[in-house]
Amino acid sequence: MTTTLRAAIVGTGAIAHAHAEALSAIPGGTLVAVADRDPASAAAFAERFGGAVHESLEDLLAVERPDVVHICTPPGVHAPQAIAAMEAGAHVVCEKPAALSLAELDRMVEAAGRTGRELAIVFQQRTGTAAAHVKDLLDAGALGRPLVGVCQTLWFRDQAYFDVPWRGKWATEGGGPTLGHAIHQIDLLAYLLGEWESVRADLWRIDRETGTEDSSTATVTFESGAVASVVTSAVSPREVSAIRIDTERATVTVEHLYGHGHDHWRITPAPGVAEDEVARWALPSMEEPSGHVPLLREIYGALAAGEPLPPLAADPARSFEIVTAVYSSAAHDGARVARQSLREDTARMASLEAPVTERRPGRRALS
Ligand SMILES: NC(=O)c1ccc[n+]([C@@H]2O[C@H](COP(=O)([O-])OP(=O)(O)OC[C@H]3O[C@@H](n4cnc5c(N)ncnc54)[C@H](O)[C@@H]3O)[C@@H](O)[C@H]2O)c1
Repeated sequence: MTTTLRAAIVGTGAIAHAHAEALSAIPGGTLVAVADRDPASAAAFAERFGGAVHESLEDLLAVERPDVVHICTPPGVHAPQAIAAMEAGAHVVCEKPAALSLAELDRMVEAAGRTGRELAIVFQQRTGTAAAHVKDLLDAGALGRPLVGVCQTLWFRDQAYFDVPWRGKWATEGGGPTLGHAIHQIDLLAYLLGEWESVRADLWRIDRETGTEDSSTATVTFESGAVASVVTSAVSPREVSAIRIDTERATVTVEHLYGHGHDHWRITPAPGVAEDEVARWALPSMEEPSGHVPLLREIYGALAAGEPLPPLAADPARSFEIVTAVYSSAAHDGARVARQSLREDTARMASLEAPVTERRPGRRALS
């Protein structure tokens, strides 16, 4: 008999729709309740997707006792809401970015361990049959050792985007595009390349009026020996989210914007690699694009079976660590930040706030 877990959503804004749609598309979960501090938003959402309406998460937890809570609120409240949900006995599926600081995220992970609940952070870019295939090839060593990586999140956000009150501020957004946008591609890069080792980085304010960065550049090294260049921008007219990994035997690329299918991926063999070997690297004939549906299907499958979260939803802190190291390196004038000492180095950082180098002609340097 299949277990059906009772799901609730807190925060019924834009991304909550992807969660509700995915829940209706997968087995194992049914939406029973929603909460939003804006009662009209919650009511309209429940009208469309179903579920009882509550004005606060506290009220929802006390009345509904859900099995899983999806946290789709802005990042400033993720940590208290996730911890409250786990303490009330629910597993948590929390939107990125997980929190405003690594210390906050560590408290969420600690709460999961203490309560015996699972904490999944949404990184849907890990999903899709192409990413799974490439990860299998890399993990099996079929492409040889990964050598060089390039990770780009080159997006375009106009000034009006940054003028929204909670955006562009360390206190409410936690960081700039490196945290809010690039964490997806950084997460996919690290999912494919494994444990990171060190980061050197700079934060730039090149064009927009914002309290955080509008761009950043970083060098990330991995324990495998691979070295990656990570570039993030919110000022790039031709937008792309892209990863390139050069290995001993091939170059793997994915170029997309907000999600990828097989057409976005390419595996180019190195000179001299035999055709029959290249043929074995071909993407599978069955295709599923990346997205919330495959991610939630895997999460609910594991939760319903009482198993640990699968790799697609595990390691909630890995990409947040890399982003924290970007901000920490910038705070130390581009110095190398090692994974081993990241938590010690950043223990004082209640937020990720770091100096941003001013690059707008005529503007005073802020750092
Ligand atoms: N995975 C992705 O691809 C993806 C895409 C977009 C947004 N996100 C993330 O999802 C989160 C939400 O973003 P969004 O674009 O949906 O924002 P949004 O502003 O559209 O929705 C947020 C909702 O939360 C409600 N809310 C705020 N504080 C609350 C509180 N304390 N209690 C209850 N409700 C509260 C607001 O009223 C609003 O309805 C962010 O962390 C964002 O980074 C992820």
